Amino acid sequence: MSAVIIDGKQISASFKEKMRERIVELEAKYGRKPCLAVIIVGEDPASQSYVRGKIKAAAFVGMDSRLIELPATISEEELLGHIADLNADGGVDGILVQLPLPRHINSDKVIEAIVPMKDVDGFHPMNVANLWLGLESMVPCTPKGIMKLLETTGINPDGKIAVIVGRSNIVGKPVAKLLLDANATVIIAHTHTADLKKITLQADILVVAAGKIGLLKGDMVKPGAVVIDVGIGRNSEGKLAGDVDFQSVSQSAGYLTPVPGGVGPMTITMLMENTIECFINRMNAV
Ligand code: GUN
Repeated sequence: MSAVIIDGKQISASFKEKMRERIVELEAKYGRKPCLAVIIVGEDPASQSYVRGKIKAAAFVGMDSRLIELPATISEEELLGHIADLNADGGVDGILVQLPLPRHINSDKVIEAIVPMKDVDGFHPMNVANLWLGLESMVPCTPKGIMKLLETTGINPDGKIAVIVGRSNIVGKPVAKLLLDANATVIIAHTHTADLKKITLQADILVVAAGKIGLLKGDMVKPGAVVIDVGIGRNSEGKLAGDVDFQSVSQSAGYLTPVPGGVGPMTITMLMENTIECFINRMNAV
């Protein structure tokens, strides 16, 4: 059997087309477009590439953006100063600080400095708490994108066993909550899980966000399972690859997201959606 490949690039393109029309309507209604501000600190090539993708997507959907590029040597205090300026700027709806930050900067402090209403990443403790309480919140982009991929593909998690490999604040924990809300039975596996294969074989839906290239092999997947690959990095041949061994898993899975072209484009598209959401919330709050 060969898995159906979930085309994240195509699905995100259709979402972005709709957003483009929506932004024209919003501009007519409110007199300006949504605006996303992105801060990048340092020269990490992967982070720079992600940030370029975000700015490009903003232009594509017709929203405004501001890119703030800061040197790796910037002090925490100066960085917090930039965030305070953006918080106070009425023309900015969403603020994203690209992670990871240099080690001398406390990321938690930086995330907490962003006003929750402009927190397009959904990383602020207030948004995290609201998400877990089932209250209105900004939902982190990658987990939100994963749920949209499932929905668009016609996969309903209700009553299914969902296994997540990875417990990060950015992906593992929030996607567990969203799958729980969708009535899946959720298992979170991680680096201390004793027999990973025993756990992953139970999954109807498997989300792999472990940060280990090629971790999930075909014999760890129940035939017909839905496999979502959140990993991205370079394999031993220097090619872009995910946490899923595509070759072997595509033989056993029922559905599979590719890397690149699976979850990645949806993350960026959900960032656009979150920026629109922040914009509307702010417009309705004044
Ligand atoms: N670095 C890797 N993923 C993300 C993300 O979703 N948001 C931010 N701000 N930084 C990241």
